[in-house]
Amino acid sequence: MSANGGPANKRVRTVVDRSQLVDEVGEEAKSKIGFAIVGLGRAGQFHLASIKMISDIATLEWAIDSDQDKVEKLANQEGCRGGTDIQGALDDPKVHAVVIASITYSHYGYCKRALQAGKAVFTEKPISHNPEELEEIIDMACQSKNAFVVGYQRRSDKNFRALRHEICSGSIGKLRLIKCCSRDNPMPPLEYLRVSGGIFFDMLCHDFDMIHFLSGGELPEEVYSIGHCYDECVKEMDDIDMVVVTLRFPSGLMASVDCSRIAAYGYDQRVEAFGELGMASANNEVSSTVVVATNKGFKHPMSEWSFAERYKHTYTLELAEFAALVKAKGVESEALVRRHLDLDKVTAAAELSYRLQRPVKLAEVQELRCKLPH
Ligand SMILES: NC(=O)c1ccc[n+]([C@@H]2O[C@H](COP(=O)([O-])OP(=O)(O)OC[C@H]3O[C@@H](n4cnc5c(N)ncnc54)[C@H](O)[C@@H]3O)[C@@H](O)[C@H]2O)c1
Repeated sequence: MSANGGPANKRVRTVVDRSQLVDEVGEEAKSKIGFAIVGLGRAGQFHLASIKMISDIATLEWAIDSDQDKVEKLANQEGCRGGTDIQGALDDPKVHAVVIASITYSHYGYCKRALQAGKAVFTEKPISHNPEELEEIIDMACQSKNAFVVGYQRRSDKNFRALRHEICSGSIGKLRLIKCCSRDNPMPPLEYLRVSGGIFFDMLCHDFDMIHFLSGGELPEEVYSIGHCYDECVKEMDDIDMVVVTLRFPSGLMASVDCSRIAAYGYDQRVEAFGELGMASANNEVSSTVVVATNKGFKHPMSEWSFAERYKHTYTLELAEFAALVKAKGVESEALVRRHLDLDKVTAAAELSYRLQRPVKLAEVQELRCKLPH
């Protein structure tokens, strides 16, 4: 029997590196990957835009949201089928892949149903705040012969990929420090923040995934966080809007993340890697490359406004790679899929450290987890 109670799955899983696939599919694709999108809010909109950008290999078959008006409007606009229930899409053989971009607490149920229906799954982060639910989905994903990818788009970003390439090439020598700066903008709507799971599970999970990506999968043994809340409405939610986390790794590697829900000058994501032979950094992306110099000084362009602008092309590449993975009938390696269990522990340790006001070892997380509010 498998871990989720079903018969042991003997189907062969074809592990593929999705970052190598897109060019192979290209314009030669004869049949398209049929998509259903669940959740038509901010994330649903950028995934919808991505599906349209890759219309040579993808087609939108279904749009699902709990809000009937949103569904009707989008289905009319895109000429696809729509519903407030996912079952129609899961029963439809034209749907090969489901993109889950609905409210965070609904991801677990949708992932489970889509995996059970034999669909490939692309889900927004996080899968679940409940470690048992998370483990159940990861076990199912590892047994499925279909692709399962979580929306940590920075792994598909050209800047962060180039940074990783530098680190792997050895040009900066053995890594000693990774510094991430992660500042969102604008402040998300309060209705979103109320159900987001808090700054650690909503925002910092991206940075912990980036550190994992750049360090070659090393996990910290201890995490320490300090934070503050400037916004009274966020404080009422028992959440914070600014935090600094430091992570200590067994190899001696150190990492830090400074994270804010808002930055007055626009969206800001930077990473610096410091090694024994040098330093490599990915600077913030700005809205243009134009710099104006006059007798008053140098005027630089603004930062991108928010994630939708900053990662527009990254989201498209991320979905194109996922579609190519589905087309190739491939899956990500089990180690990549299982990393979500480890990174959930790192995120929990970071939040526990803030709440308990002391460093927290990863080994303590299981025992302390009951002290988290969610
Ligand atoms: N990877 C990224 O960069 C990124 C960026 C933004 C959001 N996200 C993730 O995407 C998810 C959605 O965030 P958002 O900003 O789009 O939120 P949102 O509030 O803008 O949209 C959520 C949508 O889900 C719908 N919805 C609510 N309950 C539902 C249910 N039970 N079934 C189906 N639909 C339901 C809502 O009507 C709404 O249309 C979150 O989990 C968030 O973590 C990821």
